[in-house]
Amino acid sequence: MPTWCATAIASPNIAFIKYWGNRDDALRLPANGSISMNLAGLETVTSIAFDPQLGNDEFVFDGVLQSGPALARVTTHLDRLRSKAGSILKARVESRNNFPLGAGIASSASGFAALTVAGAAALGLTLSERELSILARRESGSASRSIPAGYVEWYAAEADPDSYAESIAPPDHWALTDVIAIIDSRPKKTGSAEGNRLARTSPRQAARVADAPRRLAICRRAVREKDFTALAEILEEDTRLMHEVMRTSTPALNYLVPATEKFMRWIPAWRAQGLPVAFTIDAGPNIHCLCPMESAAEVERRLREIPAVERVLVAQPGGGARVELG
Ligand code: DP6
Repeated sequence: MPTWCATAIASPNIAFIKYWGNRDDALRLPANGSISMNLAGLETVTSIAFDPQLGNDEFVFDGVLQSGPALARVTTHLDRLRSKAGSILKARVESRNNFPLGAGIASSASGFAALTVAGAAALGLTLSERELSILARRESGSASRSIPAGYVEWYAAEADPDSYAESIAPPDHWALTDVIAIIDSRPKKTGSAEGNRLARTSPRQAARVADAPRRLAICRRAVREKDFTALAEILEEDTRLMHEVMRTSTPALNYLVPATEKFMRWIPAWRAQGLPVAFTIDAGPNIHCLCPMESAAEVERRLREIPAVERVLVAQPGGGARVELG
């Protein structure tokens, strides 16, 4: 029986102000700060066992033994944890998502947040939330934001210890709902790690980054004061800026499909007609519709009427990454 085991749970998050591009790729220090909301009910559960009998790390994802880049990314992250704990033990990692992979929901965020928390617990490391966030950031930028609860801001900084995420409001502060229209669940051709490296090739990236403090201030205030009108405007503006950078990178990236572009016209029109809803889009074609809880049923009904929508997921503000006890 292995001695060093733990299980942790983490939720993915949806960024209101996006992370896209690093000032330092090796340390994953982001070019700009970002703000997000954890997604309750969507979960990655990760169990880890460090075992003296193992000759290599093993990684089983959704019941399938992994090799190649997926295993390499887990091993690289385990090496960080091992070096902190002074351990040389290899580990068996088993991870499950309760949401569809490739649904346009960044599973690396919940995946590396859960792996960080489970790995630290199994190795007996006592780390603060800030230290866990810094560690998670090293393998997936958005994972830093899945460590704290609720509405979260991740700070851009020059140095590793200063770039972490913390909660700016708890989950019950504001019952926003993310109604997610899955338009295409196939895996994307260019992953976010590669996309983040290409961001600096866009002539638009410098202006997007320089303007980020303004967008962050508007978004932070909108969240704190529950100002949906202000949030809606900045959410859509920030999304357009990120997709503009993607389209003008070399090579050019376009994650959107014609149906996504239709929603980008329809959703502001729905809002103008009185339905409080705004869109944001990550590195994929799917649309996240943020709305107050009271409008979620109507937003969901309208999305389901559209043939291009494969399925709809609904999530409210979620908690932070945590060890599963017992
Ligand atoms: C478009 O955090 O997935 O979702 O650091 O390589 O894991 P890695 O990239 P990732 O990039 C997220 C990009 C985004 C915007 C965001 O979540 O802020």
